[in-house]
Amino acid sequence: MPHLLVHKTQLNKVQQSADSKPELKDGEILFKVEKYALTTNNITYAVCGFNLKYWNFFPSTEKDLGIVPVWGFAEVVDSKHDAIEVGERCYGYFPMADYLKVEAGKISEYGFSDVVDHRRPLSPIYNFYSRLAADQSFDESLADYIPIIKPLFATSFLIYHHLKESNFFEGEQVILTSASSKTALALAYMLKENAKADGQKIIGLTSTRNVEFVESTGYYDAVISYEDYTSKLTHSPAAIVDFAGNTALLQGINDLLGDHLKNIVLVGLTDWQSEKAFKEVPKSAFFFAPTHIQQKYQDWGAEKTNSLLNAALMGFVKDSQKMLDLEYVTDKEALAALYLQMLGGKVDPKKGYVVVID
Ligand SMILES: NC(=O)c1ccc[n+]([C@@H]2O[C@H](COP(=O)([O-])OP(=O)(O)OC[C@H]3O[C@@H](n4cnc5c(N)ncnc54)[C@H](OP(=O)(O)O)[C@@H]3O)[C@@H](O)[C@H]2O)c1
Repeated sequence: MPHLLVHKTQLNKVQQSADSKPELKDGEILFKVEKYALTTNNITYAVCGFNLKYWNFFPSTEKDLGIVPVWGFAEVVDSKHDAIEVGERCYGYFPMADYLKVEAGKISEYGFSDVVDHRRPLSPIYNFYSRLAADQSFDESLADYIPIIKPLFATSFLIYHHLKESNFFEGEQVILTSASSKTALALAYMLKENAKADGQKIIGLTSTRNVEFVESTGYYDAVISYEDYTSKLTHSPAAIVDFAGNTALLQGINDLLGDHLKNIVLVGLTDWQSEKAFKEVPKSAFFFAPTHIQQKYQDWGAEKTNSLLNAALMGFVKDSQKMLDLEYVTDKEALAALYLQMLGGKVDPKKGYVVVID
């Protein structure tokens, strides 16, 4: 049963609808979704639902309405596949719904993929379900942080290595927009951890109301509000990692820093209602984590990539325990209200939302 359906072109229109528990064919399994996270990243899935095909993962039967994907945990409650038993728990990409039917394929001790026709053309990273029993790094006591942090941290881990392998584009400072977002905080954590070796200054740009929280994390060398950047940014060689997606801001920094601005890594769209003209933003390129992880799997191998990623992740998850207050959403009305608040940019970055609906 979908917890929330979102109108694909009018994102502030939401609806709930009833559905029945799916029947299985041979080779299929049924997941009961246990819990999942909601962050602005999920709002971006809706914003880019057509362009990046996020509406195609979990098609809704209702005309014009879509299901926003989320990261979370689920348990196998029915199985018509010999290699997957009822009771097994997995981490992966789910609909905001009670159930997900999966056509299981590419099975290994670590996990399996949904090989159903409509998901085959989509990025493989989203189609993979990892078996918790085989994940050495999984710690049940930290489980509620994992769906909030892991997908975002993985992106930041990849951005960090992209910056490092590009010699920070010959810059001396890395400027992160939407510095209060969890993805930005995770990148700032990676930069801070490696600051001695890399010699990069870490600069956060954020809304005035979030300056204090961002400073309190201790990850940034300077935290500047969007209102103050023209007077407070240092005129030295810089790369920007952009999580906000506000092209006027990027153009403004480019006008200010001129030749000192070396590169802009376009990652996010938290400020999704701002005017977009990315083709006009100089020195910029989009960064799509699913493409970069496939490249790392080729360059380093999946085992090395995952073990480096998980080791770094656990450090940030431990910090997140101090930094984030978990809040639980337990019914569909509260979920709809949270989604609309998040769409409007009205949520407190200190909060980490976990949805648990029975
Ligand atoms: N390219 C990729 O592969 C990839 C992968 C993962 C994540 N991302 C993107 O990274 C971004 C951050 O995601 P997250 O889940 O880490 O976010 P989050 O923790 O939920 O971020 C919350 C912050 O985003 C800003 N914000 C939120 N809504 C806004 C609105 N309506 N208008 C203006 N600003 C708003 C505010 O930050 P400030 O006040 O600091 O601006 C807010 O504190 C998302 O756009 C996500 O899609 C991209």
